[in-house]
Amino acid sequence: MKKKVLSGMRPTGRLHLGHYFGALKNWVALQDEYECYYMSADWHALTTDYADTSKIDENTFEMVADWITSGIDPEKSVIFKQSDVHQHSELFLVLSMITPLGWLYRCPTYKEQLNEIKNKDLNNFGFLGYPVLQAADILLYMADIVPVGEDQLAHLELSREVARRFNNFYGNVLVEPQAKLTKSARVPGIDARKMSKSYGNSVMLGEDDDAIKKKVQEMYTDPLKIKKDDPGHPEGCVVFAFHEIFNENYKERETECKAGSVGCVLCKRQLTEMLSVFMKPLAQKRADLMNDKSYLQKVIKEGTEKAKETAAATMSNIRKALKF
Ligand code: TRP
Repeated sequence: MKKKVLSGMRPTGRLHLGHYFGALKNWVALQDEYECYYMSADWHALTTDYADTSKIDENTFEMVADWITSGIDPEKSVIFKQSDVHQHSELFLVLSMITPLGWLYRCPTYKEQLNEIKNKDLNNFGFLGYPVLQAADILLYMADIVPVGEDQLAHLELSREVARRFNNFYGNVLVEPQAKLTKSARVPGIDARKMSKSYGNSVMLGEDDDAIKKKVQEMYTDPLKIKKDDPGHPEGCVVFAFHEIFNENYKERETECKAGSVGCVLCKRQLTEMLSVFMKPLAQKRADLMNDKSYLQKVIKEGTEKAKETAAATMSNIRKALKF
């Protein structure tokens, strides 16, 4: 039997190259070796967007289109929506009974977000319980492996602790999941900060030539390289970080830049071309998918059916263990 993988993303709309190189490529690579479950965490979206839920459903379509565009194959992987599988909320309730509050208050993501997100009132039970819901997502599928970014490690640790605590109380039912960190290239945003939708510094998957050109123009470069033959400092230059990903001769470019034998204008023009070539087939695939909503609906519906089978089996074992 294949080992199981589960991962998810909150449906916040279109995805960018940070998602692609930071997560999706890894998800795609796991599809053959593992039984993979990829989930739109729409209940989780509620934890911060509870006052305005109008975009959540549409965002799931955008996101699933981006997953399939990136190579997630609905024939191989189970693609589903968290809220369609009611066992997530059921297990969330059970786990919330045995999760000590201290574990949640201590969670670094909780503290960070409370500090960072100032335009929403996050003093809610659900927001504090975010990692418990995530633990339910993972434990419901008996996932062995959870591919995530570094920012999610604390949630994985909490999932393991909750599983252990459950097993201590009620018998050995739940599997302790392992995080699988993505060891891929870090794509900076065009302003050199982390690529993030909320910073407005992202290059989206399937972006068209005009947008690519404009974004490459705006990319942060070495401020000390003013004339084209000034020696440059590729480390810290966004254009070079992209060359590292898209240009197989990036080592040469590094040498040329440092020697001052290539200027930023040429370097940017070449990057624009490489990005366009990379993006064109993705843009086409994405557009085709977005024009065929019924196909996306079918993928999610069929995925949900499969997810439900697994979830129902685990939940039944959990109820037995609880003597309910
Ligand atoms: N918390 C994750 C994020 O923000 C999304 C998520 C929800 C998730 N449930 C999950 C990730 C289960 C992995 C496994 O990225």
